[in-house]
Amino acid sequence: MYDFRIEAADKPALYRELGQALEALVAGEPDPVANMANAAALIRESLPDLNWAGFYRNVGGELVLGPFQGRPACIRIGFGEGVCGTAAATRQVQRVDDVEAFPGHIACDSESRSELVVPILRDGELLAVLDLDSPSVARFTEDDEAGCVALAEILGRAI
Ligand code: SME
Repeated sequence: MYDFRIEAADKPALYRELGQALEALVAGEPDPVANMANAAALIRESLPDLNWAGFYRNVGGELVLGPFQGRPACIRIGFGEGVCGTAAATRQVQRVDDVEAFPGHIACDSESRSELVVPILRDGELLAVLDLDSPSVARFTEDDEAGCVALAEILGRAI
């Protein structure tokens, strides 16, 4: 049984503990789907105020929905489209305080108000993006961005 209890005092501590929990979950497991599925569940359980947490994979230059926690979502997103496609095309983190102000935002879940998308790379290749959505405007801070970049580094070795 996996029973992670993360009780951190601040966000950097929260992400340090989350990173340790993620390392433990994926250790020794080579299957990318299993690792993405557990990562999505761990993140959704550990971070407050999210309505969606999951992955879009780079399948031949198109983003295709991967394991996630939340409402059913758009399946295919072109590079350059929406927040996820922009992260994939630029390989830059997209931290969007108000998704309604983001040109081309793809509204999969009308509850989403802010979004953080982090590219996952290995050996210079884009494997996937990690996508977190929140029902609160400006939910994601610089600390969340730094923390999720650290999670993406772990995931780059695990998916
Ligand atoms: N809003 C995203 C689409 C994915 S969902 O949020 C799960 C976007 O604009 O890329």
